[in-house]
Amino acid sequence: MLKINDNFQKLPGSYLFTEIARRVAKYSAENPDKKLIKLGIGDVTRPLVPAVIEAMHKAVDEMGREETFRGYGPDNGYDFLLDAIRDDYKERGVCLERDEIFVSDGAKSDCGNIGDIFAKENLVAVCDPVYPVYVDSNAMAGRLGDYVDGKWNNIVYMPCTMENGFEPALPDRVPDMIYLCYPNNPTGMVATKETLKKWVDYANEHGSVILYDSAYEAFITEPDIPHSIFEIEGAKNCALEFRSFSKTAGFTGTRCAYTVIPKELERGGVSVNKLWARRQGTKFNGVSYIVQRGAEAVFTAEGRKQTQETIAFYHKNAEVIREGLKSAGLTVFGGVNAPYIWAKTPNGIGSWEFFDKLLREANVVTTPGEGFGPSGEGYIRLTAFGGAEATCEAVKRVASVL
Ligand code: MLT
Repeated sequence: MLKINDNFQKLPGSYLFTEIARRVAKYSAENPDKKLIKLGIGDVTRPLVPAVIEAMHKAVDEMGREETFRGYGPDNGYDFLLDAIRDDYKERGVCLERDEIFVSDGAKSDCGNIGDIFAKENLVAVCDPVYPVYVDSNAMAGRLGDYVDGKWNNIVYMPCTMENGFEPALPDRVPDMIYLCYPNNPTGMVATKETLKKWVDYANEHGSVILYDSAYEAFITEPDIPHSIFEIEGAKNCALEFRSFSKTAGFTGTRCAYTVIPKELERGGVSVNKLWARRQGTKFNGVSYIVQRGAEAVFTAEGRKQTQETIAFYHKNAEVIREGLKSAGLTVFGGVNAPYIWAKTPNGIGSWEFFDKLLREANVVTTPGEGFGPSGEGYIRLTAFGGAEATCEAVKRVASVL
């Protein structure tokens, strides 16, 4: 008889944002008159910018004419987009070749799929709290052991709390796969060049690989904060990087991202870049031409200007949340170089409890910190991706129930 992948049976409940959506849907069904403000999942609300729309319209027209119609595209992206991405990196002093960039349908997919090319025996380290995809996807692959009392028993959790300034310490047990995300989801904190250098040196010394998620780099406002791990010397020998158009340019529903794997990255004499190319060639058929043309437009002068305006809009929301919650007496972090605000729950109440209170009493949806890992207990996350009015209203409502 067919055997299923038992690792899936070990996963707790449902995916975090699915569970939140379930609770919210239940509450809405029971209280149809209540108008909820959703600052839970980090989903954008501003429309695609005109430069992107124009490029996509043009691409749609090309698809409708025999002379310019396109079927399957290259697995890893059209040259026009690869070149635009390469030039963008170059501006930060990072030189890449086209075939070190892999265009995909999302950083979530890439973060979840990358484990395909690494052995099951590898030890994984994650910051705690953390974007749940890194953990759940490794659990599905059977790398994390068993889920006992709210924790996996074969993973290195690197606590990031108020006490350590949300900066993970180098682990005692040497991990093979180290997930780092900066600007951080969920805490909204960033890493300096010195901090990243410490990780790069550690990974190179121990033969670990850093899986660096920089999906939120466009939100960095402070000048000396690195946007890419490849700005750090030695990183090409030990790291790969996930990037996305989702938050940068409002592509959450449009879908386009890219992963950079330098050719220098080898383990056991095997090129990680080649393995990923092989994996993608087999399991992935590329992103649609229309979407890639839209993504290319993000890098044009107009596209950059327009997406910057959108990001500034979200930054304003972040400030409203940060300052509003602070004035209401909460201790808050993040929201300066990131679209997320990480707030301590009042009077030490649990994060799911506070989530429920805000849902029921303020009709505001947040994300409970515990959903991001054990050290997220005692915090909640709010996103700056809502509308401006809704964000102001949400802050008022939260303040009124504290
Ligand atoms: C989040 O809310 O953490 C993100 O929107 C989830 C994602 O990007 O998949």
